[in-house]
Amino acid sequence: MSRFDITYGDEGVVYDDDVIVIEPQEGPQEEFVACDYDIVIYGGEAGGGKTYGLLLQPLQYIDTPGFEAVIFRRTSKQVMNPGGLWDTAEGLYGYFENAEPRISNLQWRFYDAKKIISRVTFAHMEHEKNKLDWQGAEIPFIGFDELTHFSKTMFLYMLSRNRSMSGIPGKIRGTCNPDPDSFVRELIDWWIGEDGYVIEERCGLPRWLIADKGEFYQYNSEEELLNSEDGRWRNKIEVEAQRLERSFEQTKTMFIKTLTFIKASVEDNKKLLEVNPEYLANLNSLDYIEYMRLRKGNWNIRPSAGMYFKSEMFEIVPALPAKIKKTVRFWDRAATAKSSDNPDPDWTVGFKMSIDYDGFFYIEDIIRFRENPGVVERRIKNTAKQDGIKTFIRLEQEPGASGKSEVQHLIRLLAGYNAVGVPKFKNTETLVRPVSAQARANNIKIVDPLMNSGNQTSWIKPFLSEVTNHPDAAHDDQVVAFIGAFEGLHKAKKAGAW
Ligand SMILES: Nc1ncnc2c1ncn2[C@@H]1O[C@H](COP(=O)(O)OP(=O)(O)OP(=O)(O)O)[C@@H](O)[C@H]1O
Ligand SMILES: [Mg+2]
Repeated sequence: MSRFDITYGDEGVVYDDDVIVIEPQEGPQEEFVACDYDIVIYGGEAGGGKTYGLLLQPLQYIDTPGFEAVIFRRTSKQVMNPGGLWDTAEGLYGYFENAEPRISNLQWRFYDAKKIISRVTFAHMEHEKNKLDWQGAEIPFIGFDELTHFSKTMFLYMLSRNRSMSGIPGKIRGTCNPDPDSFVRELIDWWIGEDGYVIEERCGLPRWLIADKGEFYQYNSEEELLNSEDGRWRNKIEVEAQRLERSFEQTKTMFIKTLTFIKASVEDNKKLLEVNPEYLANLNSLDYIEYMRLRKGNWNIRPSAGMYFKSEMFEIVPALPAKIKKTVRFWDRAATAKSSDNPDPDWTVGFKMSIDYDGFFYIEDIIRFRENPGVVERRIKNTAKQDGIKTFIRLEQEPGASGKSEVQHLIRLLAGYNAVGVPKFKNTETLVRPVSAQARANNIKIVDPLMNSGNQTSWIKPFLSEVTNHPDAAHDDQVVAFIGAFEGLHKAKKAGAW
């Protein structure tokens, strides 16, 4: 046995102490590596061993002269990130004595004596035009890590670059986490139930696929495909066979691909859970949408009302705890008063939240009104007086020079307070997720001094109504201010100071 050996689920192999065995794990990863269909998608929960399974596959053919594999991620950064594709490949291919990395062209070369036998190349395909870099290429093994990040046109283009060689059939392999908005969701629809979960009995079963004018058509057998649509596909293949002066059988394989889907589940990745047992707990602390996708493997979950926040996530308490670490009042400003011309303008929201030494957040007060800039200024100043100098003031800053000078003007009015402008958030839907995760873990409380009197402080109901309807509610000003206050407190927590 050579110093480094590779086996494929080959039980009964005798391992010497100094032999490192690289093999897929029993279960779906092994099924993915061994699967012979033209296109195999291995998708599902985070940490299921998908990328590792993808990188294992070319190793089956590295002794075949001329074998080439290209493995893509969408951006070059994702290929080269610490812990990314290149790093992981190093931890795998680096064990082979006849392998050598070429970082300048992101390639692993496998040698026989001094002669290159086969190559595994890593590449990115960020923009649509990048696909043309592969014009004329013929690649027997094409892998996409995080296939859902790619466009359908990129996938279709590379499908046309896939060729069999030296007895190895052309292979396309894709790994991904669930994403209901990707073309992959459409491609694997047959394997997904109405509830968004994978239909287990169908995993690993083939479908026959043909792509035409950018659309996929799928059937349960090759005969069904050839006989469908009044023989449209059969005709198409016949015409092409005549043009190429090839047989129907030879031409058919250029058009018809077998496709299957294999479900990845983190529980199947025993190796990961052995070395990183807290991985599951980390997944459990994701916000609801990410949790449903990355832990439960659901392919249908999209943001909709009630997914980020539910009323029962917020415990109501009568008062703040005695010791508070930091308090922030975040202002999301709007500058239009309500009028008959504009009956429902955005609100100005001043959101006050504190964090204690145990990491619990307390929503203390929400001021909300629709007024012109002069009134907005006055109310911000008055509120600062009431809140006191221990409350940090964060002011959302519109983009550009005018946004900056506006905020600077306000900061001058607030002389003596800790007031800072914060650039306007680009993406509320991304930033709301960590807030939702904290709410889901019951770490965010609402302070209602009236709670024992049978009444409720007036801002609580509109707040709960807006956040529990987000992102479908008419306004998101309170959500934005909530995120702003959270970011302020959270960043302060991390950095230790402002
Ligand atoms: N066959 C194996 N042998 C040894 N370790 C493995 C094997 N399969 C997976 N692992 C370990 O599990 C870790 C996670 O696997 P991998 O990165 O492939 O998961 P993933 O499904 O791609 O995750 P993500 O959803 O985050 O992309 C790997 O970094 C590796 O340490
Ligand atoms: Mg991965």
